[in-house]
Amino acid sequence: MKALVYHGPGERGWDTVDDPTIIDPTDAVVRIDTSTICGTDLHILKGDVPETTSGTILGHEAVGTVVEVGASVTTIKPGDRVLLSCVSSCGRCRYCKEGRYGQCLGGGGWIFGHLINGLQAEYARVPFADNSVYTIPSELSDEQVLFLADILPTSYEIGVLNGKVSPGDTVAIVGAGPIGLAAILTAKLYTPGRIVAIDLADSRLEGARRFGADVTINNAEEDAVAAVMELTGGLGADVAFEAVGVPATFELATELIRPGGRVANIGVHGHPATLHLEKLWIRDVTVTTGLVDTFSIPQLLRLIANGRLDPSLFATHRFALEDTMAAYDTFADAANSGALKVVLQGTDAQNTATTRAGVLVAD
Ligand SMILES: NC(=O)c1ccc[n+]([C@@H]2O[C@H](COP(=O)([O-])OP(=O)(O)OC[C@H]3O[C@@H](n4cnc5c(N)ncnc54)[C@H](O)[C@@H]3O)[C@@H](O)[C@H]2O)c1
Ligand SMILES: [Zn+2]
Ligand SMILES: [Zn+2]
Repeated sequence: MKALVYHGPGERGWDTVDDPTIIDPTDAVVRIDTSTICGTDLHILKGDVPETTSGTILGHEAVGTVVEVGASVTTIKPGDRVLLSCVSSCGRCRYCKEGRYGQCLGGGGWIFGHLINGLQAEYARVPFADNSVYTIPSELSDEQVLFLADILPTSYEIGVLNGKVSPGDTVAIVGAGPIGLAAILTAKLYTPGRIVAIDLADSRLEGARRFGADVTINNAEEDAVAAVMELTGGLGADVAFEAVGVPATFELATELIRPGGRVANIGVHGHPATLHLEKLWIRDVTVTTGLVDTFSIPQLLRLIANGRLDPSLFATHRFALEDTMAAYDTFADAANSGALKVVLQGTDAQNTATTRAGVLVAD
């Protein structure tokens, strides 16, 4: 089969590799119908994720069709359409029993395209299949559910739920990439009073307004703290999300918050950030962190099925799966291409879609 293979920092190829097979009785093999690329894949390609070794197939988000199941798999069968989540679950360890699949001790957690071969490929081996895949209702398209594999549950669990967004809250979101935009969509489920999006890029702030931000602040041009204080009568935001992953934006999120407010860090940090405890301790501020567990996929899936949540705005570009190399170039050049999420379509998905490879969907 063909797959997108990581060959060490800066190097990737669309290579011919061995077809995956069942290794453990709890495995399934799935044909990838629709996949996508994550900012984390770009981090791996930069060499920021040293545990991902050369030769690993990348990708941790996909929709596919089951082609084979191991002897002990009972809840899915060949022909079923399934969502493959970025996080797998052994189902047996302490953390899986608590729904904290991201912390799985039994060989699950974030493994696809990280510790084992991933999902930007024609086929994939899926460990712990009974516990880790989600059957998709036939009336929903691949693209409607694809973003449940990572960005929607990440922003919902690590942002909205950890930050305890409540009706009427002023929610400030630092960073308006796919994660910040998914935070806007899922925060709206709780009817906040106002959503404020903060980013350095006007194109991203334009996206934030499309997704439902009420106020946008370009913090390259404007003092974001002063602007949020003015909006909130000098108090600060009730909830602030950090959705970038650099020290400056974490520190900004803690400056935007009102006494008694909640700062939910979503960004993946590679460097130490300063926690200004000397300013925060007296203000009753809560700071939360987290790796996504994806326990909320069934709940978010029901919202999509019932028309209450529409993630279709994320799909800015579509490519044939065999054009994954070009899709990476477009995704990595988001500043010029306007890419939010690029959809990679396997042969079956291409037959049911009407678009050409690389077409900008948003225009
Ligand atoms: N916690 C988790 O489980 C989890 C899961 C997935 C992704 N993430 C992380 O979430 C973060 C966001 O992901 P993404 O895909 O949206 O990233 P992205 O790079 O596409 O978007 C980041 C946005 O932040 C903006 N930005 C950069 N520096 C800024 C600054 N100083 N002030 C304001 N805005 C600034 C950029 O212009 C961009 O729009 C990343 O760190 C990613 O690794 C975390
Ligand atoms: Zn991801
Ligand atoms: Zn486990």
